[in-house]
Amino acid sequence: MKAPSYSTLLFLAGLCLDQAQCSEHKQDPLVEAKARAKILAACPAYEHYARFPHSPPSLGPLKLPYQRPAKQCRTFVSPLVEKVIEDVTERMVDKDLARIFENAFPNTLDTTVKWHVDEAENTYKSHKGAWEGAQSFIITGDIQACWLRDSTNQLAQYQRLAKKDKKINNLILGAIATQAEYVIAAPYCNAFQPPPPSKVKLSDNGQGDAVHPAYEPSQVFECKYELDSLAHFLSLANQYFNHTGSTSFITSRWLHAVNSLLEVLDEQSRSTFDSETGEFVQQTYRFQRNTNTGTETLSLAGNGNPLNYGTGLVRSAFRPSDDATIFGFYIPANAMMAVELKRTAAILTLAGKSKLATELQSRGARIEKGVWEHGVVQHKKWGLVFAYEVDGYGSHLLMDDANLPSLLSLPLLGFLRKEEGTYQSTRRMILSKEGNPYFLSGSRFSGIGGPHVGLENAWPMSVLVQTMTSDNETEVRELLNAVKKVSSLGLVHESVGVERGGGYTRSWFAWANSVFAQTILDVAERMPEALFGEGAKAYVVE
Ligand SMILES: *[C@@H]1O[C@H](CO)[C@@H](O)[C@H](O)[C@H]1NC(C)=O
Ligand SMILES: *[C@@H]1O[C@H](CO)[C@@H](O)[C@H](O)[C@H]1NC(C)=O
Repeated sequence: MKAPSYSTLLFLAGLCLDQAQCSEHKQDPLVEAKARAKILAACPAYEHYARFPHSPPSLGPLKLPYQRPAKQCRTFVSPLVEKVIEDVTERMVDKDLARIFENAFPNTLDTTVKWHVDEAENTYKSHKGAWEGAQSFIITGDIQACWLRDSTNQLAQYQRLAKKDKKINNLILGAIATQAEYVIAAPYCNAFQPPPPSKVKLSDNGQGDAVHPAYEPSQVFECKYELDSLAHFLSLANQYFNHTGSTSFITSRWLHAVNSLLEVLDEQSRSTFDSETGEFVQQTYRFQRNTNTGTETLSLAGNGNPLNYGTGLVRSAFRPSDDATIFGFYIPANAMMAVELKRTAAILTLAGKSKLATELQSRGARIEKGVWEHGVVQHKKWGLVFAYEVDGYGSHLLMDDANLPSLLSLPLLGFLRKEEGTYQSTRRMILSKEGNPYFLSGSRFSGIGGPHVGLENAWPMSVLVQTMTSDNETEVRELLNAVKKVSSLGLVHESVGVERGGGYTRSWFAWANSVFAQTILDVAERMPEALFGEGAKAYVVE
């Protein structure tokens, strides 16, 4: 795609009267930035835009709409991304599925890069180096705030382009640096405001939560403590290293953030009772909200239910759905944290930071041991299975929720191989109505849902994770078909009603679109015939 010329840009922004007059202007980066901002401000709000179908329709029987914003309204452009879209969609046999890929793969770049500067563009100075260098503010979609978890997953399918595409490389480096600032500012929080140098307007979640430790609302959008947010902070950099071999993200700010993360792990590894005296000890992190929704606040004056000591596990007050945990030792996030700590340790060793590396390695091993010791339970019907949450006293919760990390995603996290026996039993259990209360099935759609949206809606994201963890091509084809049928707006929704006539939630949920793109790229590699027809060779993006 060709970028508009400087004079066209000024003309579109209304900064000059006609093309002739526009072409007399000398190029000025400040004026250019102003022109871009004016054009973007005049673009339709994507949340609304995505609710209505746009032309041209796909060539398949479903005639799925084209939902990418107009070129001048896209928030980030990469020629390599356009090339991948072309390569994949022209090979795909099912033109409706191809249309969803065309809309979904670039969705995060098209719509959610609210602010990005590379190192040369960022003139911000602060005494400790905060917010300096490349920065990227990636919003979740319909809410103008950055979730650590969402943004890491939103960017995941572009990581493999970072080696070749300097702009993507900078975008991800910026996201790593921005996340590091968030973790330093408020390591217990899950969603954040625009960075100060961006001058992007702040949003208010309107809740007035009582949270300990206190945070600065100009920095934080919401402060639900979720262990997986911190694991996602590590994961973003680990993925970047994996694909580029570069350790350039290791700055003093990033190391500072890693140390803040370790402090949280220490504070959240403590029991509810003192291990010597047995006395009740308040949790360092407490959260209370005035609400009539049970999953939106913590019991026992914001402490949450009691947890035992000596498990090696780390507490998570909330789940990746942003719902409160019932038992604080949330197994999927512990599994993810164990993996990411060990990956970061390996990178730190290469970078000559062996003391910190050893520390991370041993913490990762301790958590991993805790997951196997306390997170696996014997079930009468299913045998040995992973519990979703435990408390270290033997109580446990058997279920799975669509949000990542989940039990279903354990092999994708790199915690175990998908053939592993306990995982296979768990998978059978959580993909059945009798084994998982949140496996929701109806005449329109089936899949895992969760309490966040409710008992009538399943989440396409869970079906995509099921696809990526399956080696059965028939199952893979059926699952992709099922997601296609409930994506009639050409994008992937948060959840859809399982019965005919059921609606959907969130027209603009970038994370789900990214997971769809990741699934198609995964199948293109592992089972190319399922997408590209008989005899097709694997397609690998590099
Ligand atoms: C690195 O990337 C490869 C290829 O995408 C993947 O198979 C592997 O699991 C990744 N490793 C880590 C540590 O992320
Ligand atoms: C593969 O999946 C199909 C469709 O879900 C199922 O009927 C079949 O039994 C599966 N095959 C194996 C070997 O599990």
